[in-house]
Amino acid sequence: MVSKEVQDAVNGQIKNEFYAAYLYLGMVTYFESKSLSGFGHWMRLQAREEVLHAMRLVDFLIDRGGRVELGAIEAPDLEFDSPAEVMKTALAHEEKVTASINDLYALAVKHNDYPAQVLMQWFVAEQVEEEKNAGEIVDQLELAAGSASALLVIDGRLADRIPEAEEAPA
Ligand code: FEO
Repeated sequence: MVSKEVQDAVNGQIKNEFYAAYLYLGMVTYFESKSLSGFGHWMRLQAREEVLHAMRLVDFLIDRGGRVELGAIEAPDLEFDSPAEVMKTALAHEEKVTASINDLYALAVKHNDYPAQVLMQWFVAEQVEEEKNAGEIVDQLELAAGSASALLVIDGRLADRIPEAEEAPA
């Protein structure tokens, strides 16, 4: 049985993951409105991954006899000046998610909750990937420095992203 404190934190993280999906879905609409369909495709897959992250947490609570609570998801701010600003916002969001995953891991350690620690180890590793992927695109957009042709090269590369396999939690 999961403790109330861990359960509450997992429920908070479920909301964070759905918020990320919502934020990234909004970013899809920005990119599509600019005819940057490679960026749109990349972000669409990102939004889908966030739903899978949320579902991992939902299943964890179900499996542990916990109670799933679905909080309200606020509307994201979707005013952006440039693709670089979008990607910087995405990276900043991932950094926030990393901090909350780290807090959740520390809480699982405090409660000697080994199943939660194992689950959080998956998320810790995932966050390294998430920050790396978003950070790389931010760096490339900075290198592009407003060049339309460089932007289109990046867009073409992002169109090649393939969906991550849906693995069972470690
Ligand atoms: Fe679920 Fe992008 O972290």
